[in-house]
Amino acid sequence: MRFDIITVLPGLLESPFAHSILQRAQKKGLAEIHVHNLRDYSTNKHKSVDDYPYGGGSGMVMMIEPFAACIEKLKAERDYDEVIFLTPDGETLNQGIANQLSIKQNFILLCGHYKGIDQRIRDLFVTREISIGDYVLSGGELPAAILVDAVVRLIPGVLSDETSALSDSFQDDMLDAPVYTRPADWRGNKIPDILLSGNTPEIEKWRFEQALERTRQRRPDLLERGE
Ligand code: ADE
Repeated sequence: MRFDIITVLPGLLESPFAHSILQRAQKKGLAEIHVHNLRDYSTNKHKSVDDYPYGGGSGMVMMIEPFAACIEKLKAERDYDEVIFLTPDGETLNQGIANQLSIKQNFILLCGHYKGIDQRIRDLFVTREISIGDYVLSGGELPAAILVDAVVRLIPGVLSDETSALSDSFQDDMLDAPVYTRPADWRGNKIPDILLSGNTPEIEKWRFEQALERTRQRRPDLLERGE
């Protein structure tokens, strides 16, 4: 799987992919992540990538030429399954979307800034628009990193225990049961006895009931969706 991320702030994306599971996925050759500085594709001598909005109004708008130049260069090198624009007015990312994307190969991710990007970029190049939630961030870089993380961990072989992505919260429209590790008694706060019983079927039953109760209390919408 390959991600080409186009941004005006490449420095912001140096660290998120250099640790833990995302780093391991790249070392194993299961994911490639390339960050492109949009300013390198500016077509004017000031290296600007934004301009005033037609019709007036506050804020700057990202111009079509730099995005078009970078996208067209990438598309001349390989095929892409999706060109994704991270934007608060896109469809909200969830586990189902992450699952859908995890069976595709090549992605271009566009990070917006300022007041937005020229609508023609969205009309002509973008195949999917994704939000990471109903709040506005200063740019699409952190949303892009979140999307990459959610998708890459689903690639078979990325997680050491292949079943662990399948047992994540949300994979079966349920939250996870509580988990505990040593010590079994911390200042009088004991773990549930069942977990020390060694009775695997009973432990699984307890976990299911706990997960169901937690989901009922915190996210009843998930249970309605799964029905
Ligand atoms: N850019 C700014 N805010 C965003 C959000 N919530 N999701 C995706 N991209 C964004």
